[in-house]
Amino acid sequence: MLAWATVVPALVQAQSASHGQQLVESRCFACHSLDANRVGPALRGVVGRKAGKAPDYVYSDALAAATFTWDATRIKAWLTDPEQVVPGQRMNYRVDLAQDREDVVAYLSTLSAAPRQ
Ligand code: HEC
Repeated sequence: MLAWATVVPALVQAQSASHGQQLVESRCFACHSLDANRVGPALRGVVGRKAGKAPDYVYSDALAAATFTWDATRIKAWLTDPEQVVPGQRMNYRVDLAQDREDVVAYLSTLSAAPRQ
């Protein structure tokens, strides 16, 4: 039998990711999609991807010159204040609520293992 201590965190995780999916679809897809570059670069696989390096996307000089890899912490900081993470970037968008940032990252993390096109 599964203990609640095991099941509950897993359910919370699933809920965060599904709320994160709603947030990404309603807020990020104004500029991004998962698999195509639009106003912003394709987001599938961004967790674990080198910053400023999505194929065929023309970044700001600042983000193109970045040398870090996106992980949960960096993405949450980026969504809090992108200019703080990469001065000179050009994503003029923030996610105000910490819980929303958590959920967005939880969802984006579920996409990382998906095959790239
Ligand atoms: C108003 C348009 C806009 C919205 C809305 C937006 N973005 Fe962006 N995003 C951009 C642009 C433009 C860039 C490229 C910035 C640059 O080149 O400096 C970017 C870049 C990024 C990057 C860096 C990717 C890389 O390959 O280095 C991440 C991560 C990101 N966005 C996540 C998000 C998430 C998550 C949301 C929704 C919560 C979001 N963005 C909403 C326009 C937007």
